[in-house]
Parts: sequence; C-alpha cells; structure tokens
Amino acid sequence: SKIKVFAPGTVANLVCGFDILGLALNEPSDIMEVSLLDEPKVIIHNRDEYNLPTDPEKNVAGVVFLSIMEKIGGNTGFEVTIEKHIKPGSGIGSSAASAAGAAVAANHLLGNIFSTDEVIQFAMNGEKLASGVKHADNIAPCILGGVSLIRSIHPLDVTSIPCPELFVTVIHPQIEVRTSDARQILRQQVQLKDAIRQWGNIAGLVAGFCKNDLDLIGRSLEDVIIEPVRSILIPGFDEVKANCKAAGALGGGISGSGPSIFMLSRDEAAAKKVEAEMKKVYDKIGIAYHTYVTTV
Ligand code: HSE
Repeated sequence: SKIKVFAPGTVANLVCGFDILGLALNEPSDIMEVSLLDEPKVIIHNRDEYNLPTDPEKNVAGVVFLSIMEKIGGNTGFEVTIEKHIKPGSGIGSSAASAAGAAVAANHLLGNIFSTDEVIQFAMNGEKLASGVKHADNIAPCILGGVSLIRSIHPLDVTSIPCPELFVTVIHPQIEVRTSDARQILRQQVQLKDAIRQWGNIAGLVAGFCKNDLDLIGRSLEDVIIEPVRSILIPGFDEVKANCKAAGALGGGISGSGPSIFMLSRDEAAAKKVEAEMKKVYDKIGIAYHTYVTTV
C-alpha cells in the first residue's frame, strides 16, 4: 500500500515563544509518497533541485523511518518520494516537514499503531539531525495544524491553541542562516526584567488567540530576548518590521531561526500591502527573495 501526505511549512517561535510556539501555513507544502517494503531498508527519491542526501542516515525523513523500524523490529522498510516545495534553510520548517511527513505516513501505513505524541517524538529525531537539538515548534504544528504550544519536550506536552482567521505574509531573502549558528549566538542568561516582559507577551499572545483579540495578539508579538541578537544576521530586518507595521500588519518577526521574516495581518488586502513593503526593502538592498501570502 501507498500513501501521499502533504507536509506544510510552519512558523516557529511566533516571535516571543522561542521553542514553544508555532503555526502551520496553508502553503507551501511538501508532498511525500510513502510505501512499505518487506525488507528492513529505506529507499529515498528526491524530486527537487536541492541535492538533499539519499543516504537514510543523513536524510531527515530517512532518520525518522530508521527510528520507527528500530522500534517495531522485523522486516519492514519504507520507500519515499519527496517533492520538496519548502526550500531547505528558509526558516519555515523545511526539515520539520520532511520529518513530520515521514512519521505520519509511516504510522498510517502501519495501521496507526502509535499515538500522536509518539508520532511527534519520532519526527523530532529527524529535526535533531537537521538542527542539532530536539525541538518541536515546527514539528507539532506541521502535524496538528493551526497553532501549537509545546509546554515541554521532556516529557512531551503539546497542545493545540484555537486561532482566529489570520493572514500570514512571509518573505524569504536568499541569504544563508544556519539554525545551529542562530542558536549558538544566543545568550545563556536572561535578565529578570526581560523575562517578565517576555512571559507577559507569551501569555498575551496565547490569550489573544483564545479570545480572538487581534489587538492583543499584535501587542504581544514582541521579543526582547532572542530577536535583538538574531536580527543582526538578517539585513533589512528592522526596516521590514517597521514598514510592515506602518502598513497595517498586526506584528511579526523572524520566522523560526530565519532568514525568513513573517507578519500577521487581519485580511488579505493588508497581507498583500505588507508583501509589497517587504519586497521594497529587499529590492533596495539588492537581495533576491521569495514571498508567500497565505493563511494559518
Ligand atoms: N525554535 C527553533 C529556533 C526553530 O528558533 O531555533 C528553528 O528550527
């Protein structure tokens, strides 16, 4: 038997919620076709121009399949064809999509023997290969859809948060920011006054989602801990943010570990205006880009 899964791009952190919040985008999505093999091996076909590894030990989806095979034992293997639409290294959860898609497809083919938490945990093995650390703020929304809160990963405690209809504009400037580098530059200590401001924002953001309070969401999209450090890796970041807000965006910031920048808006017209502002900045700086206007 064979299954086709769509694994959507995701925005991790949602500005103030480093490693604990994320949302799923309606597009772009990777498409993966997975089938069972009756011998314990993993065969990977990449249908894209990105030159991703086909050695299962070095491939995010491959590592997930191998971890599932180790768990179930026997003579089961997997063959996958990956059609990648989410650019690797863009900051909208490309590796998480491969990992999550592999885990969900495998579980389905095996007759849904694993719980959703277990599927997330298998997918996290792939994310670890990609970024060096386990985190689930791309994986969880990729699998669950909408907005996810990862209260803890040891033990795993994930919950979905209701979300109003929101439009998302993403710009991916074509510069390289590696997640591992973007994590290494972070300070290990946080001042109490910054922590207070940050947890006020996280609570405000979650309350805003639950109460459908778009102004509260906008005010809470503020990060006093991670963004001031990471934004130096993204030319034009401050200008993009200021211009988008002036153009009517609720707020936004770095998508995951960057280099993509995302903004939330109330409606499609606002989201398109925001897109035009983003493009203007990178046209001026002279950096090529790709943009998406989509919904949560
Ligand atoms: N929470 C992660 C980070 C997401 O910001 O490093 C990127 O994979």
